[in-house]
Amino acid sequence: MLNTAVIPKLILLAEVDSTNNYTAKLLSEQKLTHGTVILAEKQTAGRGQRGNTWISGRNQFTGSFYLDTAFLSAGQLPSLNFAVALAVRDAVASLSGTMAHVKWPNDILVNDKKIAGILIETQWMGAKMRGTIAGIGLNLFREDLEKAVFMEDLCAKTPSYPEMAAVIWRYLSVNVEELRKGNFALVLDRYHEFLWRKGEKQLVSLADGKELEGRIRSVNEHGNLVFETAAGERIFGMQEIRFAY
Ligand code: BTN
Repeated sequence: MLNTAVIPKLILLAEVDSTNNYTAKLLSEQKLTHGTVILAEKQTAGRGQRGNTWISGRNQFTGSFYLDTAFLSAGQLPSLNFAVALAVRDAVASLSGTMAHVKWPNDILVNDKKIAGILIETQWMGAKMRGTIAGIGLNLFREDLEKAVFMEDLCAKTPSYPEMAAVIWRYLSVNVEELRKGNFALVLDRYHEFLWRKGEKQLVSLADGKELEGRIRSVNEHGNLVFETAAGERIFGMQEIRFAY
């Protein structure tokens, strides 16, 4: 029996351009309940990090969670990223019984291969946060994808879309409550516990094409990577580097 949690509201669509777009449109038309989840069997124009297209078919879990995060300030947004990434990591690890890591800022890896990606988008009313859409693409059934791993390969029984959503929500709801209570350090500590290649030697590519060797030291409260090199510590934002495997 899967250890799940009751999702406040679940909408399952056969096909949509992007579950994040759909949720954003719903939110512009009505007030959404914290924990509303929109799942789609197929996305025709899914979106990924850095403006990339996210191609996904029925083998993938594609879903967006609406989170009432009006209590957060703009400066606290990195904590939300930690909370969402941890929840997806915990869901993958608990369902599969396998170790999973968070590759900064929010890719979820098993055995160095990607199992899930996250696109977090926030809506604002002037300077006040209205809410968050946490979009998750997660590999459920095996397909021909490079450097990827699938729940089907890790679990005795592959979870259905709603089961996957319920397990993610079980962890996500707890993490968001921790943020609501102001326990930011606790969430960041747990994020560090599962940070991919923490303390290990790593090569990164810089925006100018140069490569730099160092060690991932940590991720600071601003969500930036603290990278230790022979010449001293460097702090990188998400757009500034890429990992060379
Ligand atoms: C990444 O680039 O790794 C993030 C991918 C996020 C994809 C998900 S699929 C569900 C949701 N809807 C979207 O259009 N994107 C996110």
